[in-house]
Amino acid sequence: MMDEIFYEIFNNLPRQGPGDVCVSLEALKSIPFPNSEIRMADIGCGTGFQTLYLAQHIKGSILAVDNYQPYLDELKQKAEAVGLDSVIKVQLGDMNALELPAAYFDVLWSEGAVYIMGMENGLKNWRKFIKPQGYIVFSDVCWLKPNPPKELVDFWYNEVPGMMDVRQIQELIKENDYTLIREILLPASSWVNNYYYPLSMNVARLRIKYLHEPDKLEVIESIQYEIDIFHKYSDYYSYKFFVVQSNR
Ligand SMILES: C[S@@+](CC[C@H](N)C(=O)[O-])C[C@H]1O[C@@H](n2cnc3c(N)ncnc32)[C@H](O)[C@@H]1O
Repeated sequence: MMDEIFYEIFNNLPRQGPGDVCVSLEALKSIPFPNSEIRMADIGCGTGFQTLYLAQHIKGSILAVDNYQPYLDELKQKAEAVGLDSVIKVQLGDMNALELPAAYFDVLWSEGAVYIMGMENGLKNWRKFIKPQGYIVFSDVCWLKPNPPKELVDFWYNEVPGMMDVRQIQELIKENDYTLIREILLPASSWVNNYYYPLSMNVARLRIKYLHEPDKLEVIESIQYEIDIFHKYSDYYSYKFFVVQSNR
């Protein structure tokens, strides 16, 4: 039942996490592709806001993977509607146990999703799917400055227990034998425009709908709390894109 209210709160959003396709394209541009077609996988694609845009800017194909079939159905429908269904294929799968061919992809892409298995696990486990010297591009939340207030630390360590600062992420990338090609900070607008703003409208609507259902209201308020925390403390953290190339 609690899963249902989560999906209802996150229903009908343009995307399921912070992001900005201008930044996605900047990240894409930092990968030196020859003119040949490339194979990309988008892990934790959600309804594919970024997948659709990336598909318009590459030659080749994108396999979009998520573990929630309704998101994939929506992406498939959108891809068909805009004539990108020959470029984007969808696959239901768990990012911890991906059923993908080995050494097959030029790029594994993942926006706002690798935290689910942990960045280190992602870097270690996903390498086998990319070609030698292939690329992984991911965005994840990180601390931007020291000494965040306790209220903020309590919130984020509950959401993302291993949340790191930028220097720790750079070290992790190096320790795992990747070269950091580029990092790009997501601006505050990328949290709000396509994510927190429409999410706050869902929250407002569902507060009215579930006025007399305290269990659901508690979940709804916890999402509003996340939005409030962002507006209060957004200078302490954000999402960053990391474009990394395997050294193997
Ligand atoms: C924060 S959303 C990000 C979605 C999208 N990349 C974006 O930036 O809008 C995380 C996505 O990961 C998916 N997900 C959660 N657990 C997963 C798992 N174990 N394997 C694959 N996908 C998963 C969710 O269904 C959701 O679509």
